[in-house]
Amino acid sequence: MDENRVGMTTAQETAQAQQHEARDETVRKKVLIKSYGCQMNAYDATRMADLLAGQGYDETEAVDQADLVVLNTCHIREKAAEKVYSELGRLRVLKRERAEAGLETTIAVAGCVAQAEGAEILHRSPAVDLVVGPQSYHRLPAMLAQAAQHRRPVDTEFPVDDKFGALPRPQSRRIRARGHTAFVTVQEGCDKFCSFCVVPYTRGAEASRPPEKVLEEIRHLSEAGVREITLLGQNVNAYHGEAADGRLWSLARLLEAAASIEGVARLRYTTSHPRDMGDDLIAAHRDLPQLMPYLHLPVQSGSDAMLAAMNRKHDRALYLRLIDKVRAACPGIALSSDFIVGFPGESDADFNDTMRLVEEIGFAAAFSFKYSRRPGTPAATRAAQVEDDVASARLHALQALILAQQTAFNRATIGRTLAVLVEKPGRHPGQVTGKSPYLQPVHFDASPALVGDIVAVRIEGQIANSLSGRLIGHGAATHASGSRPAAVALASGGLP
Ligand code: SAH
Ligand code: SF4
Ligand code: F3S
Repeated sequence: MDENRVGMTTAQETAQAQQHEARDETVRKKVLIKSYGCQMNAYDATRMADLLAGQGYDETEAVDQADLVVLNTCHIREKAAEKVYSELGRLRVLKRERAEAGLETTIAVAGCVAQAEGAEILHRSPAVDLVVGPQSYHRLPAMLAQAAQHRRPVDTEFPVDDKFGALPRPQSRRIRARGHTAFVTVQEGCDKFCSFCVVPYTRGAEASRPPEKVLEEIRHLSEAGVREITLLGQNVNAYHGEAADGRLWSLARLLEAAASIEGVARLRYTTSHPRDMGDDLIAAHRDLPQLMPYLHLPVQSGSDAMLAAMNRKHDRALYLRLIDKVRAACPGIALSSDFIVGFPGESDADFNDTMRLVEEIGFAAAFSFKYSRRPGTPAATRAAQVEDDVASARLHALQALILAQQTAFNRATIGRTLAVLVEKPGRHPGQVTGKSPYLQPVHFDASPALVGDIVAVRIEGQIANSLSGRLIGHGAATHASGSRPAAVALASGGLP
């Protein structure tokens, strides 16, 4: 641990970070953080960037300019993990070339592969200078100092100290540079132990941040101009943050408090587990205008036999019941899910149960994956592994069905007026692009001065997974509840 940081308050650390950041520009270095995997990794990347800014590093996207490269890795599927090693191979060459030009390059491996493989990465990849697991990012400054002495530090502990509390608060200008949407991790880790999944091992036991800390972070983001906040957790709806008075807050309560923060126009949360989908959270979709009508609720399979084998702790009937309740609370809500095909023992009949479930529900979007054997997880050693060509054919069929549903969902918005949060200038001059309440990208002609506003857009067409439209209003729709009429309008549109 960095000795300088022991005993410091967050405020002191922030001041120190900002002081460092103000150093003479000429001594500043460049860092490239390359993130893979889930949104929690994306959030961690921003926090690492904020921390490194205080250590004299500015971000760059040009790898050959980077004095420090951080690979923020994902271990969820074999392909994701293997990507790291091919990337490290390329970085090794680059490091040598830079060394020949008299430039030093530090290579750090962070994220879930770092957690899962630890020192093994140093053995496999001699170019790597340090390995840091997701719970230890606040220790990066000390680790960089060790790396500079060629000590190749590895930290994959699950420390008890509050990582988030020890990370500096980003400066407003850094927040603004990232746009008008932001992630805030509120919960980390998972106690569910689905039999296919590495997350309980790479991210550790479930832990929730105190609500006051989360709300303070949201307030800070909102003051800097962020309009939409997505609360993150590997199991976000299991959130149970302990407040200063000792009471436990549910995610619903946290969302309600976040909605009352001035400037917060939109709220989202991901990823949820069906088991933790409480009635209060479902009611929040009815009662909180800021909570966007979108729910990502992974089901993985429509077969009860597979759900049991996956140790999902819910069956098909529970999932369908939840969907009914959610739709009753928020008609027209966009539903999304995750699916795994080719899980060990999956028969044609099991797979058909999945297809029937998808047909019955009608999703606005969904992610589907071929089962990937993950060493150390219970399913990896099961005898009845499914042949790859069978799994591929199933994946193909499922993805075709999901794409058809997504297309139908998008088509059903044509002719309606949606509240769009304008995110950035579009690809064509005079065009901007933003997101509908249903997370659909929307392109339309308007001034870039509208970036950060929520405007009313009449949807006129569909281009692949995006929508095109015409700006019809700027004013009423900027109100947070601008999404509500859109949800109602959609509900009456007979969505799939
Ligand atoms: N916490 C979330 C998702 C975590 S990982 C949840 O409970 O659903 C994101 C998705 O990756 C999972 O929903 C699952 O569909 C997929 N996934 C996880 N492990 C996998 C594996 N071994 N093979 C294929 N897909 C996997
Ligand atoms: Fe993995 Fe299951 Fe936990 Fe999701 S709930 S992170 S799939 S173990
Ligand atoms: Fe991947 Fe780790 Fe996220 S394994 S999906 S980066 S929690």
